[in-house]
Amino acid sequence: DIHAWRRHRSYTYQRNPLLFRRMSQACRDRLVRTPTVIAMCGLPARGKTYISKKLARYLQWIGIKTKVFNVGEYRRDAVKFYADKDFFDPDNTEAVAVRNLCAQQALEDMCNYLAYDGEVAIFDATNTTRERRQNIYEYCTQTFCFRVFFVESICDSSEIIESNIREVKSKSPDYKDVTAEEAVSDFLSRIQQYERRYETINDKSERNYSFIKIFNCGERFLVHKIGGHMQSRVVYFLMNIHILPRTIYLTRHGESTLNQQYHLGGDPPLSTNGKLFAEALAEYMANENIPDLIVWTSQMQRCVQTAAKINAPKEQWKALNEINAGICEGLTYMEMAERFPDELAARDQSKFYYRYPGGESYQDLVARLEPVIMELERAENVLVICHQAVARCILGYFLNKDADDLPYTEVPLHTIIKLTPVAYGCLMECIPLPVEAVNTHRNKPTNCRRNRTVQDAVDEFLIERDTKPVARTKSEIFYNSSGTKIKTTHIDGSRLPRSDSTSGDPALNNICSLIQDLY
Ligand code: ADP
Ligand code: F6P
Ligand code: PEP
Repeated sequence: DIHAWRRHRSYTYQRNPLLFRRMSQACRDRLVRTPTVIAMCGLPARGKTYISKKLARYLQWIGIKTKVFNVGEYRRDAVKFYADKDFFDPDNTEAVAVRNLCAQQALEDMCNYLAYDGEVAIFDATNTTRERRQNIYEYCTQTFCFRVFFVESICDSSEIIESNIREVKSKSPDYKDVTAEEAVSDFLSRIQQYERRYETINDKSERNYSFIKIFNCGERFLVHKIGGHMQSRVVYFLMNIHILPRTIYLTRHGESTLNQQYHLGGDPPLSTNGKLFAEALAEYMANENIPDLIVWTSQMQRCVQTAAKINAPKEQWKALNEINAGICEGLTYMEMAERFPDELAARDQSKFYYRYPGGESYQDLVARLEPVIMELERAENVLVICHQAVARCILGYFLNKDADDLPYTEVPLHTIIKLTPVAYGCLMECIPLPVEAVNTHRNKPTNCRRNRTVQDAVDEFLIERDTKPVARTKSEIFYNSSGTKIKTTHIDGSRLPRSDSTSGDPALNNICSLIQDLY
């Protein structure tokens, strides 16, 4: 019942029209911070959803509130059963009416989101006709005074298109009851239906729009009339991403002499175990036999020493140095609790935003790491050897972690994290190497109040820290709806976790928390 569905979807929007008008007036006065709509454009299987999700993940990571509105999902919500490509026949008037309605509902919800809450919204739909784009532009700029930026993906490589269909489209809910071959054939016909009415953005008749055209996955770009800082940032990102298959390896340095004593920061050398890890890592990387591998380390000697035996070109980045703990550099958590109880409590209350006096916050780290992420997007096979807080920020980007969870991601020492892009997300595999190491992870304590005792601040950490590993034999692979798969692999049962499944080994705990976050 399309009408009931429409009434239901419209409810939120119609509830508060006055507020909308006020918000749009306010937007007029705040030109630099005007919310931005990024409207995708292009035939099916041109990477629009891929770009939308990836761009949203990047913008969220740098602290910009972003959400994707996918018209295909509205359509599937409205029309529960997809029969075949005839639904996308431009002469099928009934279907065209339903599709327009879905697009309009998504547009209204999107503007609703921007009016109340978000800074950027991505309108993920084909928008392959001039009329559709005009409707988006007028609605967003005249009813709401938002900025609009069109991103058109144009691809004429039948090889890429067919591989996109096989990789993602044949697994779409539209094709849940048919074979992969039937899905590919129907999807190719669906594209033909769209081609009958496709009008690429016309840089003469649509020259008042801001847009970027991406040709053949970034072989060439056309950028037109960029409207402001946000759009130039989006363009910068889009010009740096690629879809070549590759793997990113991420690990912390080997255990350091200060890690052994649970001291924060400093520039210590590797401990004996740390040196063994450096050897094991070099051997692991050699066995992986990765083409054109490059190794990035921080400038701290524990990272440089960890990389020393790896046979690949190495580069040092200051941006990869560990979080600067300011007045707390060199202390243990226990000493922090004794000497700066209010600072530790403030950090426990809001770890992502807390800045050490004379030092940094996780938020500062994200800003410092942005060029690293951009270079990681450009690079192919890379091994990054860094530190606990830095690795959390990098993982936060790839796994879409929010500010609450990111600083508590478990990244155990002597564990390699392998990230392989697949479909809309990435496969994450944790490989603990069989070399003993201390556990430096401290969870958020139950009591974060300023007037707590030193024991309240550190007891849980001390118990967690001293729990000994036990053997675990099986491998786990986890999938989540946004396309990220998570897997742990055990090279050897010797360095392994503890008996109870809740406190488990660090790698397992990490995986469990990631699964919860991602579902
Ligand atoms: P659409 O949303 O346009 O129907 P999808 O985003 O679902 O297409 O297609 C996903 C596939 O597109 C991924 O396999 C990804 O590798 C590929 N892809 C990413 N960017 C592009 C691009 N610029 N042109 C063509 N394909 C791309
Ligand atoms: O303990 C190792 C270490 O890398 C320190 O140098 C750093 O201050 C700390 O971890 C960061 O972790 P957290 O933010 O959890 O204190
Ligand atoms: C869809 O229904 O899957 C879709 C992408 O819609 P539209 O072509 O209307 O954007």
